[in-house]
Amino acid sequence: MSGPAGGLLLIGGSGRLGGELRRLLPGAVAPPRSELDLTRPESVRAALDRYLPELVVHAAAFTDVSRAETERRACWRVNVEGTRHLAAALAAGGPGLVFISTDYVFDGRRGMYREDDPVGPPANYYGLSKLVAEELVRLVPRHLVIRTSFRGRDWPHPVAYTDLFTSQDYLDVIAPELALAIARWREIPWDTLHVATERKSAYELARRRRPGVRAGSKREAGVPLPDDVSLDTSRWQTLKALLGRCAGRAG
Ligand SMILES: NC(=O)c1ccc[n+]([C@@H]2O[C@H](COP(=O)([O-])OP(=O)(O)OC[C@H]3O[C@@H](n4cnc5c(N)ncnc54)[C@H](OP(=O)(O)O)[C@@H]3O)[C@@H](O)[C@H]2O)c1
Repeated sequence: MSGPAGGLLLIGGSGRLGGELRRLLPGAVAPPRSELDLTRPESVRAALDRYLPELVVHAAAFTDVSRAETERRACWRVNVEGTRHLAAALAAGGPGLVFISTDYVFDGRRGMYREDDPVGPPANYYGLSKLVAEELVRLVPRHLVIRTSFRGRDWPHPVAYTDLFTSQDYLDVIAPELALAIARWREIPWDTLHVATERKSAYELARRRRPGVRAGSKREAGVPLPDDVSLDTSRWQTLKALLGRCAGRAG
């Protein structure tokens, strides 16, 4: 893959997405949380001083949507306050910032959201925390908010919901797309980008990797879930074709 690689500081490199990004962007530096803890602003500043990155990729979060309902303080501390510490350290300029955000920032009533559609009110607390974090990221002069949605490589549950629509896909499908967007971040002319695949029900997605999965309803979930958080990805599809053509010319 072409791109910056060197000069890239990845926060959240031990996570599911972070692990894939490390593999796809081998030049990235990914300090563990013991070194860079978003809730400790001095550790954020120290890492920025130590690595002098050209680009910071913020892929760290409190990601458990169910626990975020009951552990709101912990979720807010990482997703909002942690992002605030990072944004404050980058607000004066310097490195660019790519923030990995979520389809859950939308209300999830109608689906096929475009990048410039109004956000919120989110259906759950995790979505609210990521929405607020997005706005903090926008204080950084050179920023890109990427909204996405992914699963691991398999469908881990025996049940999948037929009444929840999404543009989500499996990590092995989504991570290479995100890595491409990160590698080519300088050529992206927008400050918000949706990177996902086509609209489908969660059940449809589940059947691709777990054919015997049971069809269920999101009423079983025990956490408020939206009806349809699918994303319009036409910006990314157009850009990707263009980036491919540019890479072809360069090569
Ligand atoms: N999963 C999805 O469906 C989905 C959808 C849309 C967007 N996203 C976003 O994509 C990103 C990655 O998600 P994921 O599912 O790969 O996450 P994950 O597997 O839950 O990993 C979370 C990462 O955040 C790190 N982290 C947590 N608290 C931190 C702190 N205080 N300081 C520094 N690092 C901290 C964790 O480090 P430790 O290993 O030390 O805990 C870990 O590396 C997140 O921003 C998430 O909001 C996820």
